Amino acid sequence: MADLAISLAGLELRNPILSASGTFGHGLEMQHIVAPSAVGGLVSKTVTREPRAGNPMPRICETEAGFLNSIGLENRGIEAYLTDTLPEVAGADTVILTNIGGRSAEDFGELAAMLDERDEVDGLEINLSCPNVQGGRLPYSTDPAVAEDVVRRVRSATTKPIFAKLSPNVTRIADIAVAVECGGADGITAVNTILGMSVDWRTGRPGLNTVMGGFSGVSLKPIALRCAWECVRAVQIPVIGCGGIGTADDVLEFLVVGCAAVQIGTASFGDPGLLGRLPAELSERLDAAGIAAARDVIGSLEVAARTREVPGGST
Ligand SMILES: Cc1cc2nc3c(=O)[nH]c(=O)nc-3n(C[C@H](O)[C@H](O)[C@H](O)COP(=O)(O)O)c2cc1C
Repeated sequence: MADLAISLAGLELRNPILSASGTFGHGLEMQHIVAPSAVGGLVSKTVTREPRAGNPMPRICETEAGFLNSIGLENRGIEAYLTDTLPEVAGADTVILTNIGGRSAEDFGELAAMLDERDEVDGLEINLSCPNVQGGRLPYSTDPAVAEDVVRRVRSATTKPIFAKLSPNVTRIADIAVAVECGGADGITAVNTILGMSVDWRTGRPGLNTVMGGFSGVSLKPIALRCAWECVRAVQIPVIGCGGIGTADDVLEFLVVGCAAVQIGTASFGDPGLLGRLPAELSERLDAAGIAAARDVIGSLEVAARTREVPGGST
């Protein structure tokens, strides 16, 4: 059987497959379907300083090609996470990443400091797609200096590995990747959802109460793959691929472009047991190809020399 173990910013994962934030609860709600020990790691849904009710319904809507959501970071807040969720997570036989979100840059630093004291948490993922309430409600992820500042505050509050989760809703994701690396991130997650909307022309109503929301699922994959590759080329720190991944072949595509690991989001809604099965399927694919270890695939993308010189995405 192929060796699936990987190292990720100092963390040892038994395989490169993690859950994506907000799509698998905090991880343990699903343990009757997927044993935590089956996956490389579990990423919590975004935890904020204060409890949040989230956006009004409808806040999830299916399109012909994927999901739209505008959950609005519904969660019980950091105090409940520390008192109720983390003790449950303590026995989980896998890597635990806590995803944090803030209304201000200070929030991120405070959350990181509170989590730094807790042994149950192996690392932090910073959700830079949250609206910066103090900065015109633009997401932190859209401005390199703002993104770097948030990461720097988290860096100074914790010694745990930190992963900056980037948004695809930018012109040059590589600039943001470089900024978060400068801010002290140990890794990057690429990417969060891409902005979209849907409408029912008969009623004139949008699919989501907030009109616009985050688009995810299989149709996001080519965009996510491109974003991940741009990040891989721009930084030295490891990149976790995320977006539209649903099969072992998808996982391998992200490893080939240079990702050290991947996260599975929307695909788990249609197939909650998927995360538990993927590692074995990954081994099968590698065995069939005669490849001894998943890490041997990482960064094996073959690019023709002259293609590297083409600057943009024109056809
Ligand atoms: C219903 C739903 C809720 C999500 N909640 C969060 C969240 O709380 N924090 C976060 O960083 N990303 C959140 N995401 C984004 C996912 O973690 C992931 O980045 C995105 O959906 C792309 O991956 P996918 O196509 O595999 O779903 C959410 C996605 C969905 C569909």
